[in-house]
Amino acid sequence: MSESDRPVVKVVRGKAVTEGAGVRLTRMFPNPQLDMLDPFLLLDEFKSDKSGDYIAGFPSHPHRGFETVTYMLAGAMRHEDHTGATGELLPGGAQWMTAGRGVIHSEMPLQRGGLLWGFQLWVNLPAARKMDPPRYQDIAPERIPSVTLEGGAVARVIAGEAGGARGPVEGIVTDPLYLDVTLAEGTSFIQRIPAGHTAFALVYEGAARFGATALARGELAVFGPGDVVRGAAESGGGRLILLAAAPLNEPVARYGPFVMNTVDEIEKAFDDYRAGRLDAA
Ligand code: CO
Repeated sequence: MSESDRPVVKVVRGKAVTEGAGVRLTRMFPNPQLDMLDPFLLLDEFKSDKSGDYIAGFPSHPHRGFETVTYMLAGAMRHEDHTGATGELLPGGAQWMTAGRGVIHSEMPLQRGGLLWGFQLWVNLPAARKMDPPRYQDIAPERIPSVTLEGGAVARVIAGEAGGARGPVEGIVTDPLYLDVTLAEGTSFIQRIPAGHTAFALVYEGAARFGATALARGELAVFGPGDVVRGAAESGGGRLILLAAAPLNEPVARYGPFVMNTVDEIEKAFDDYRAGRLDAA
């Protein structure tokens, strides 16, 4: 039986937004062209070497009902939550935070100047797991394996499996794949994706090709059904993140930092936050 390539069914460009205390970001989704990619709810890229674009950071704010995933390409952030737990996100490192029933945290740059570059992804939780206790997976850069894939592309495996390596992020209910792929000129890769899993790629440097579709920096490709994603470098090479996960197929009610199944549950999240019991069991 031959493997079928997953076709590119949509190409999306991001939109400039300001979040936190005044951090400039590029929001890949949600936007009018793409509401969500179940179970993925949001993807932002932050990239600036102007400290005024990021120095104000993300002071104390809550989350409930989903997971926030931060991956740093350059620069560093400091994370602190309402229990006093702290962590540092270093270049090449990642944090997979399962907010569950509630986290109140801040995410602040650890630098006064220089390049800050990375991604924040939101991944939904199913109804049965939205009120789980919070959990952090802080992944130091050296824990992320780097493997050469068939075709010569090099992948850092943050979550899931590629090139015989398994990423350090474990126990995530949507069984995610998160790869950071570097395509030197002339290289390519083939990555198997489980049937039925949502899959997309964002080219963040240079250019890359999926079948007949060439993407430049800042373009996100949504893949349709098939067995594998087949990518290749365009002239000059490129870098991209490739994500996949199992969809939840549940109703989504979202407002600001809360993602639940119903509007009543969103209202309860606000009530709990105001009453200081967001993380109460
Ligand atoms: Co947050």
